[in-house]
Amino acid sequence: MDDSRETLSPQAFVSGFPVRHSRSPLIHGYWLKSLSLPGSYLTQEVAPADFAAFIQSLKSGASGFVGGNVTIPHKEIAFKLADEPDERSEELGASNTLWMEDGRLKATNTDGQGFTANLDERHPGWDKFDSAVILGAGGASRAVVQAVRDRGFQEIHLVNRTVSRAVELADRFGKTVYPHPMEALAEVTKGAGLFVNTTSLGMEGEEAPSIDFSGLRRDAVVTDIVYVPLKTPILAQAERQGFAIVDGLGMLLHQAAPGFEKWFGRRPLVDDTLRALIIADMEKH
Ligand code: ATR
Repeated sequence: MDDSRETLSPQAFVSGFPVRHSRSPLIHGYWLKSLSLPGSYLTQEVAPADFAAFIQSLKSGASGFVGGNVTIPHKEIAFKLADEPDERSEELGASNTLWMEDGRLKATNTDGQGFTANLDERHPGWDKFDSAVILGAGGASRAVVQAVRDRGFQEIHLVNRTVSRAVELADRFGKTVYPHPMEALAEVTKGAGLFVNTTSLGMEGEEAPSIDFSGLRRDAVVTDIVYVPLKTPILAQAERQGFAIVDGLGMLLHQAAPGFEKWFGRRPLVDDTLRALIIADMEKH
């Protein structure tokens, strides 16, 4: 009886600690409703000490979930606990999307796909240049480096305040990724066609740095993976300096689509109504 109910109405989760701020339930709720699909997507706040048990109950079927998303701070441990992480998450050492298949817990990381799909949608042709600059070498930077490399950029300049972190990340991704300290920023932007901010600089409440984008190609695009505020100070500066900009909200929306398809069986669309829904929610909080 339980089995048939699960088949009819799959349940997925987003797990983090804390997880209250997650907008994933809004995104998946919108898709379930607009596609008239049975199912639900629930927030599961799980403390790090309880995460292994949570995954165990997912694997055994006791939790009733078909899979879910994991967010900070569980992405690395989710990767380690999965039975079959795919190559993409292997390389990142982190997974954000889990699903049960043939009794095995599979895992992938969709952050890079989200990044790529957002730029494909909002600035087609963004990938036609050889050189890119990525600012930041933290957890969020990894999937961006992977995505930019996979799109064929030949020179990826990874700039970070703590240069040792940039070196470590560059080593992970092979010879097209070059690590640099902050002081090198102006030099490496020269001739680049893509600039990505992956740091918290300019996030709501954070200090806004002043960046000179003038070395970029005139037809370069500047993007930020931070989406609160939607137009970050870094994007605002780039726009004032005459460059095309793409905000980070689409990355959040697009990274959600592959998981939805796994759990609920249909590929959802990122449309303007969904975008407006999330923007309205951001304005409330
Ligand atoms: P996330 O998972 O969001 O990437 P993180 O791993 O803490 O978070 O990384 C934050 C990134 O923002 C890092 O690249 C960090 O630089 P350091 O590695 O030197 O810490 C960068 N960052 C945060 N505040 C910064 C600041 N005031 N100036 C320059 N870089 C900053």
